[in-house]
Amino acid sequence: MPTVLAISGSPSGTSRTVAAAESALDRLEVLGFAVRHLAVRDLPAADLLAGKTSNPEIRRALDEIAAADGVIVATPIYKASYSGVLKALLDVLPQRGLAGKTVLPLATGGSLAHLLAVDYALRPVLTSLGARHVVEGAFLLDSAFVSDATGIRYTLAPDADLRLDDAVGGFAMALGMMYGPRHEVGRGGLAAHRRHALFAPLDDPMLRDPVRG
Ligand SMILES: Cc1cc2nc3c(=O)[nH]c(=O)nc-3n(C[C@H](O)[C@H](O)[C@H](O)COP(=O)(O)O)c2cc1C
Repeated sequence: MPTVLAISGSPSGTSRTVAAAESALDRLEVLGFAVRHLAVRDLPAADLLAGKTSNPEIRRALDEIAAADGVIVATPIYKASYSGVLKALLDVLPQRGLAGKTVLPLATGGSLAHLLAVDYALRPVLTSLGARHVVEGAFLLDSAFVSDATGIRYTLAPDADLRLDDAVGGFAMALGMMYGPRHEVGRGGLAAHRRHALFAPLDDPMLRDPVRG
């Protein structure tokens, strides 16, 4: 079963970025992926900034990244780029720390002016880390997040929810393709395959790993 790790890079304790990442993971779990979430803010900050990869918590985080088939990289947009918190973790990855992995970039931001930050700032870093496939990501505006009565949990407005669905569907499909028989990919066209990837469980023969069975 493919594993997906979400890395969220917000320093905030009540984070929209975390809400988006967890919402994406919930959808993937329903599809049969094994999912985990790594919030960079929970790692020991001093050792992370000093690049001390011998710290057990940082070591465990690096091992989780290495073990994942797919990685969701979720960040708030800060100063027209991804967050420094996220960069602190990316900087302690090995040079090809995302080699062979499928990556879904997610960003939250206050302004549509920085809609393209995922593509001009984050995507080149992910590619330089060796990501095999960086699928189309999603940029979610602050205004798309609705907080509940406690003010600490967010849900997504319907249109943003659909865009996240779309991004997660593309990611699941890319992971499914990587695990499924290649000759099946074109059957019924991309849209049909996408519907299949979204709604079929992972034990479906179309998505099964031909090597691992
Ligand atoms: C220091 C700082 C810088 C920010 N810079 C930008 C920016 O350049 N562009 C933008 O669209 N939003 C910017 N924002 C807004 C955040 O990206 C936005 O509120 C995001 O949803 C916060 O995510 P979080 O709730 O996960 O922390 C900034 C926020 C902060 C605190």
